[in-house]
Amino acid sequence: MVCAIYPGSFDPVTNGHLDIIDRASKVFDHVIVAVLENPRKIPTFSMEEKVQMLKKIVVPYPNVEVDSYRGLLIDYAQKRGARIIIKGLRAISDFEFEFQMALTNRQLNCEVETMFMMTNNMYSFISSGIVKEVASYGGEIKTLVPPQVYDMIIKKLTPSSSKPG
Ligand code: PNS
Repeated sequence: MVCAIYPGSFDPVTNGHLDIIDRASKVFDHVIVAVLENPRKIPTFSMEEKVQMLKKIVVPYPNVEVDSYRGLLIDYAQKRGARIIIKGLRAISDFEFEFQMALTNRQLNCEVETMFMMTNNMYSFISSGIVKEVASYGGEIKTLVPPQVYDMIIKKLTPSSSKPG
């Protein structure tokens, strides 16, 4: 059985992430979507909220589970006995840092392989940061995020719903 980890900060999950989950679920026997901390980003959603959102969107995928971990991705892979890390690549701008992380993870444990999936061109412009920016100014994010998590994101980010009165 081939088990792969799809890690990310998912702050919040977008249609781009869902596309990778969907495609990975067709390639691997088991996919673990793992919420990890990105020390370079200040999170908007708590770990629990992110897990909750991801759990809602993976309901149609019986071979996908959601988990969270505080620590190194490579330690988590070892803990779960997974030898594959899946990363989504949207643009050349993603490449440099992803390449650095993949090589670092290989240095830490050469048994674990990082595999990249090219984004679907429909979603290549979407990022969690863009979703947060649009929503925080009251813009429409319906086409950017899965419908199951739309309300939760709006509640947290839109100006009128986050402030009383
Ligand atoms: O969705 P993101 O923010 O691009 O995901 C990045 C993430 C969370 C996968 C990355 O920051 C990570 O692996 N964090 C765990 C800590 C770790 O292992 N750091 C070393 C990576 S070289």
